[in-house]
Amino acid sequence: MCGIVGYCGPRVVSQVLIEGLRRLEYRGYDSAGISIADSQQFTTVKKTGKIKELSAAVPEDIQGLSGIGHTRWATHGEVNDTNAHPHLDGSGKVVIVHNGIIENYEALKSKLKSQGTVFVSETDSEVISHLIAQYYEGDLEHAVIKVLPLLKGTYGLAVMHTSEPGKIVGARNGSPLVLGIGDHEMFIASDVTAILQYTKEAVYLNDGELVAMTKDGYKTFDINNNEISKQIEQINWEIEQIEKDGFPHFMEKEIYEQVASIKRAFTGRLSLDTASGHLGGLDMLPQELHSIERVKIIAAGTSYYASLIAAYLIERIARIPATAELSSEVRYKNPIVERNSLYFAVSQSGETADTLYAMRELQRKGAKVLGVCNVVGSTIARESNGGVYLHSGPEIAVASTKAFTSQLTIFYIFTLILARMRHMAFEDGLEFIKGLQSVPSHIEQILSKTDELQSLARKYYKHTNVLFLGRGLNYPVALEGALKLKEISYIHAEGYSAAEIKHGPIALINEETPSLFIVPDDALRDKVISNMKEVKARKGPLIAFAVEGDTEVAEIADDVFFVPKANELMYPFLMVIPSQVFAYYCAIELGRDVDQPRNLAKSVTVE
Ligand code: AGP
Repeated sequence: MCGIVGYCGPRVVSQVLIEGLRRLEYRGYDSAGISIADSQQFTTVKKTGKIKELSAAVPEDIQGLSGIGHTRWATHGEVNDTNAHPHLDGSGKVVIVHNGIIENYEALKSKLKSQGTVFVSETDSEVISHLIAQYYEGDLEHAVIKVLPLLKGTYGLAVMHTSEPGKIVGARNGSPLVLGIGDHEMFIASDVTAILQYTKEAVYLNDGELVAMTKDGYKTFDINNNEISKQIEQINWEIEQIEKDGFPHFMEKEIYEQVASIKRAFTGRLSLDTASGHLGGLDMLPQELHSIERVKIIAAGTSYYASLIAAYLIERIARIPATAELSSEVRYKNPIVERNSLYFAVSQSGETADTLYAMRELQRKGAKVLGVCNVVGSTIARESNGGVYLHSGPEIAVASTKAFTSQLTIFYIFTLILARMRHMAFEDGLEFIKGLQSVPSHIEQILSKTDELQSLARKYYKHTNVLFLGRGLNYPVALEGALKLKEISYIHAEGYSAAEIKHGPIALINEETPSLFIVPDDALRDKVISNMKEVKARKGPLIAFAVEGDTEVAEIADDVFFVPKANELMYPFLMVIPSQVFAYYCAIELGRDVDQPRNLAKSVTVE
């Protein structure tokens, strides 16, 4: 998704903007640009391609009082220099950067054209610069406040005017904006990674809020031009956490961080005294938890696959009906909100539009929706009716890894709490806790053998189709493994229930299509082995992720990777790791941009 960064202050403005845009690269983009305001005019440089190309095109000697920058993930208009942001009005007095979609831009554009406005780009965003110029009467925030009601859709906006150099006006509706407060300098950005190296004091704008900022301070308003006071919050991340720390890619670093991030997610939340757990953010009394009659989870992408595992586990272990649904489907299906239902909105970024809007729809119908997010202060976290943070640290790689296993950890703890309130015996609760506490060391063992997965990737990376297959609790792991492979290596991969393969997908099996089976030593092992044999009989190459010592699987499969023996409920944690590493090495073999795969964004803030 697009990224915005803005700065008012004494530093070299172009350097702050370029460095800030570099920090936002992980959000996904195809072009970038900056505009710097000196006392009379703007200097604007914008280009398709990476930040390093933009940086090379920025003149060394620009002096500026303020500036705005943007990384564009194209929605309207092809990828070219003209459509890159920033956008100016015809007089060159107003410059804007925009994240979001203006849904009524065509009507606005034709009206402006009928009044003689000349457009240079194909974008929806450009209408905003012309409208602000039209309404400007000497006060930029007032001009912006007059224009916003004309815009239908979503925006994160940063605006400057040549008559007020050193001032930036920001506005938010649907696309995040955070202020960074410095000492005689101010920052604005799409997320804190762009400002973390300068300040830890942040103010998060909500939808319908604006800010007018200069180096000496800021004022926040609502869309009705009422001045509002906003809480200053401390950013709880360190700059090192958004560096690669010697790893070639953020994705590899974050795969390895899972040993620590899972520990962080359960530390202080499991009790051997009660053989249960504790999730402070739930903010629910035992009586409320006990009255829950069903659990419903909404999410997208990898978070949805974690939610599928969560729903399966809650129903199987806590014996409460539980479902996971795609946010984008829930929002428009006119969902029925039943009494005594507890909802969760699961989102690493806390900004995914599909999940945010579905949550709002459920809340409008009376649902209590808890957020499970990683980014503190994110919109879903702030608008939910309580919830739990993953605390897995910033996840920079577009492909989600540590957030997935931290999401699982939170829901395993939640399942334990519910189960121990109902029928789960003390000793079973202890067994469950022991299993969960063993996961980090088991993952360490797996990560000590990544060379085997690299060899596997080198053997299979030239295939153009791969099937991932699993059953029960590990069926969503197959879905997630397929997503990892396709999103970073661009190899077509599909996840299926292993049993489902005979209802169609087996038609795909030939010597060119490997099938990767997830075969834990659980109650469904023999069934999965039967499915493997169905593939083998049709000469399909067989890869298996199995449990140490399973010689039968090793004999059937062409290649096998072993994970440690564990409590069978914990295998989703263990089986997803080789899936992540296998996908990573396939992408490396293919020379892909592992951390920023083509077309993808880390935070999908458009529908
Ligand atoms: C996962 O690797 C992808 N980057 C994507 O599917 C992601 O999980 C999805 O967009 C949801 O993001 P969220 O967890 O931030 O809501």
